[in-house]
Amino acid sequence: MIKAVRGTRDLLPPETALWNFVEAAVRDVFRAYNFHEIRTPIFEDTQLFTRSVGEETDIVSKEMYTWEDRHDREPTIWELVLTLSSRFADSRVSFLRGGGAAVFGPHMILESDDIVRLFLVTLVPLPPDFDSLAGYSKLVEQTFPGKTIEYGIAFPSGIPVSAGTKHQAQERHVRLEEVKVRMPQSLTLRPENTAGVVRAYIQHDLEKRGLNKLYYIGPQFRRERPQKGRYRQFYQIGAEVIGPATAGSESPARDAEILELLATLLDRLGIKDWILQLNSIGCANDRAAYNEALRQALQPVASKMCVDCQRRAVTNPLRVFDCKVPEDQPIIEKLPRISQFLDEPCRQHFQQVQEILKSIGVEFQLNDRLVRGLDYYTRTAFEFTHGALGAQNAILGGGRYDGLSEALGGPAAPGIGFAIGEDRLVMSLSESAEAVYRKPDVYIAPLGAGMNKEAARLARELRRHDIVVELGDESFRLKKSLETASKMGAKYALIAGENELSTGVLALKNLATGEQKAVPRNLLAQVIQS
Ligand code: HAM
Repeated sequence: MIKAVRGTRDLLPPETALWNFVEAAVRDVFRAYNFHEIRTPIFEDTQLFTRSVGEETDIVSKEMYTWEDRHDREPTIWELVLTLSSRFADSRVSFLRGGGAAVFGPHMILESDDIVRLFLVTLVPLPPDFDSLAGYSKLVEQTFPGKTIEYGIAFPSGIPVSAGTKHQAQERHVRLEEVKVRMPQSLTLRPENTAGVVRAYIQHDLEKRGLNKLYYIGPQFRRERPQKGRYRQFYQIGAEVIGPATAGSESPARDAEILELLATLLDRLGIKDWILQLNSIGCANDRAAYNEALRQALQPVASKMCVDCQRRAVTNPLRVFDCKVPEDQPIIEKLPRISQFLDEPCRQHFQQVQEILKSIGVEFQLNDRLVRGLDYYTRTAFEFTHGALGAQNAILGGGRYDGLSEALGGPAAPGIGFAIGEDRLVMSLSESAEAVYRKPDVYIAPLGAGMNKEAARLARELRRHDIVVELGDESFRLKKSLETASKMGAKYALIAGENELSTGVLALKNLATGEQKAVPRNLLAQVIQS
């Protein structure tokens, strides 16, 4: 039997009702904060992630689903020239001086023992008034006396050859079909969505719109060791606020708004006892100084640490904090803290974020060991944890990434965002799937041959009133229909037999109480909904 791949899973009803419940609540909250949805592709150019999340991170170095894909591109003129010369391998190749290379391409001369071929190589269709190659006949005949001369035009596949040149009859058109150039391209299933959003911001010039408040809901992929709350295909609900600094994107007010939104969202979903852990990891300058301090502090102790840390100590010391090896923790515990390295603007920015949070009553804990596992972060970094989740207790994480757009070749665009692990969010709900799973209001039991048609008509009428209808089948006995209806939790069974339909009064059975009533057809919707 083929099963779902390790670390992936099927979400089935009734659990999917819980996912829909969460997503509907989330969309409501995003609406209130004026966020709009963005959907980016599930796979991207691998470089997008290596350049943003960072080569040294666990995500990029160990966890990405990457493969070599390829796309076909059109050949360059020189690739055409090479292809053509390989077709006439017995010929010597030269080029005609002044042969129009600037407009269409070079004129190639292919000379063998008894024949000379003059080809124009071109990437573009020739205009109808193109002055034919035969115009060169005198020159070529003089240069190669006594040889047969053939004229031709070489096109790549995909270019129409028909463009009528004046002396077509004398010319040979060579179509170079095989010259599709296969380009290898490294692609990756997205391990996170911030990089994709920032790429889209740059690609579509979203800077023009000022402050962009975007959210997404969708699958992400990381090759992590699967365990409770950790999957290889998991889902994130995330948001990004990004724009030019003049639109306010750098303001601590954005940070506070994001954090307050999250507190509101979790409260609204009835998730209690979350803890907001907050830190500032400074700007690029602070980080350079901090990295240097870490490097120095690590130098004498690195040899006692795991191999990953030994490498990180040299290449990207901040990543030492991602280490999960228990023996390394006492060393990591003694390392300098980023809070000692913040410059004045970063310190003030962080101070203001905290002040706003206090004034609106969002509680937080400062945690200066929180550096987050992705390289693009600057300044504010945060995680919300929840005790009930066990080892994988981060329900969401996020932070600022003020230099990311520039690192990807875009304009300066400070930004801040977060991603909630939806799988973990659903796990921490107290709500049960049963409670939000909508069961049928009514089960229609057609009784006897020919009644499926009538039942379908009834179902259509009732569904127009937003009543959830399940249809039985005329081949079922009444007893079976009633049992099926009870099993699926329908509120009522509606009996549609020939008698009932001809009198226009139908039998409606309340499946919880067993009480049966005769209800005129035109009142059915009203009674079912009451
Ligand atoms: P992240 O901390 O890597 O941040 O992931 C955010 C959340 O996704 C985690 O807190 C966790 O709940 C969930 N998550 C991560 N990996 C898994 C997994 N294997 N299985 C289940 N859930 C998982 C980011 O992804 C950033 N892009 C967040 C962000 C947005 N920062 C700024 N904007």
